Amino acid sequence: MFNFKKKFSQNISIDLGTSNILMHTGEKGIIVNEPSIVAINNKTDQIISVGHEAKKMIGRIPPYIKVIKPLVHGIVSDFEVTEKMLKYFIERIQSNHLINISRPRVIIGIPIGITEVEKKAVEDAVMSAGVKEVFLIELPIAAALGAGLHIENASGNLIVDIGGGITEIAVISLEGVVNWKKLDVAGNKFDQNIIQAVRDEFNVLLGETIAEDVKIKIGSAMPLEKELKMNVRGRDLISGLPKEIILNNTQIKNALNRSLTIIADSIKSILEITPPELVADIYQKGIIICGGGALLKGFEKFINSAIKIPVVLADDPLTCSIRGSSVLFEDEKMLKNIMSFVNNSPISRQI
Ligand SMILES: Nc1ncnc2c1ncn2[C@@H]1O[C@H](COP(=O)(O)OP(=O)(O)OP(=O)(O)O)[C@@H](O)[C@H]1O
Ligand SMILES: [Mg+2]
Repeated sequence: MFNFKKKFSQNISIDLGTSNILMHTGEKGIIVNEPSIVAINNKTDQIISVGHEAKKMIGRIPPYIKVIKPLVHGIVSDFEVTEKMLKYFIERIQSNHLINISRPRVIIGIPIGITEVEKKAVEDAVMSAGVKEVFLIELPIAAALGAGLHIENASGNLIVDIGGGITEIAVISLEGVVNWKKLDVAGNKFDQNIIQAVRDEFNVLLGETIAEDVKIKIGSAMPLEKELKMNVRGRDLISGLPKEIILNNTQIKNALNRSLTIIADSIKSILEITPPELVADIYQKGIIICGGGALLKGFEKFINSAIKIPVVLADDPLTCSIRGSSVLFEDEKMLKNIMSFVNNSPISRQI
């Protein structure tokens, strides 16, 4: 009976990010990779769309629809919408099965240093989305595993995950976090920096999605060899009418500089309090950067020139955390060692 159940109950890893939600199953790999966004009908409270479809609606909705980003700085800010979003994707995964499988077991990443109440919100949202058992693990550990680091060794690793809402900096050794720092400066802040700079220089207001597009296409942390330009449309704040302007990479680099310096300074401050043995290991392996924000052009070079330690961009930085959590279903001993408890409860929650 036990084997039968095990066979048909699914293991799902989840990365519930501020910008993107990813889900992974052992059989199919990453099967959900969508923006963490939900569009809801104000009158009926029904979901209209989720993920990519909901993102397309930002800034283009009539009053009866609200588009919600239920996570802020890595933390659940709208519990009900988070639960709806999780349920929607879990049901979508399960509906692809011809046989009736039992409720899944889930490993989900949580930001480091969150409160018991915030942890519990994640756990409750997952459980009420129809899950049998949930394991919480700290995201920097997941990211380190996904980047291929051997965190089980007595050797220092420094991982910096620059996501949409938060940047997490963590020194990891022997499956544990030795030092860490979390910043609210990450991809969304970079977009805001661009909006502010364009407003100051051109008196033009850009939409969030356009600012993100500018960052991805022509944004950089360091000067580029070849100039990049982009035409964008926003609202002229004086006339109130649409206006087209041309932006170049130097303007965007300058707009991002302050935020990038905050990240580099924070990495420095973590290294300053890290024992010298671990710093020597980190110097040898390099600082590993991951998360979507790490894809900004020239980011490795920027950190390297500020800190004078080699910097390595992880392979496929947007999927590091989810790939890292998923390997833990294959290594339950490590999962037991690193799982995070809510209110010191010694077991994962099961129903
Ligand atoms: N090529 C790129 N250049 C610069 N930024 C990028 C690029 N691709 C994605 N991003 C940015 O990466 C961020 C999303 O990264 P990621 O999916 O790792 O975040 P998240 O895990 O959802 O958020 P968090 O970890 O903060 O909760 C967004 O701000 C997005 O604009
Ligand atoms: Mg993330």
